[in-house]
Amino acid sequence: MTWVRLLRVADLSETTASRATHDGSAFCVGLADGQPCAVDDLCPHREAALSGGVVSDGVITCPGHFRRFDLRTGQCVGRPLESVGRYECEVIDGWVQAEIAPQAQKSSLRDVLLAHARGDNPRRAQGRQACSAGLVAQLNTVSVARPAQVESPASGGWRACRSGSR
Ligand code: FES
Repeated sequence: MTWVRLLRVADLSETTASRATHDGSAFCVGLADGQPCAVDDLCPHREAALSGGVVSDGVITCPGHFRRFDLRTGQCVGRPLESVGRYECEVIDGWVQAEIAPQAQKSSLRDVLLAHARGDNPRRAQGRQACSAGLVAQLNTVSVARPAQVESPASGGWRACRSGSR
């Protein structure tokens, strides 16, 4: 665990959150009960940046589809199985500092992008598989008109042409 400076406490407000980055990881920092709180800046639903949301009573509303997360706990309101990573915060010399877990520090932007490209997110991988299966099913039902074989007097042989476009 390491304490890292995220941003100045003067930059925070009770109604909006701020985005801070450290070592390739993004954090959503807001105020709850007048105290700074930091959570992962990534909604677990469709990966929108939570920092673009509105804060009310220490709860941030995701700008994507309006799920609400308590900044004090990281817990999704009304969805007990969903949460975002939360980090202990303290204010030192006017700066918000957060205690970053080792796994958060290891995730460089490169690692995050590579994991995303590989489809390491299980929810996205499931979605891709379902999408691929749906496309294959659709392709199997499509009948493709084959070009008609007609004799061409000009060439003296067979040529392919589309029906009605001679
Ligand atoms: S992306 Fe956050 S609720 Fe959908």
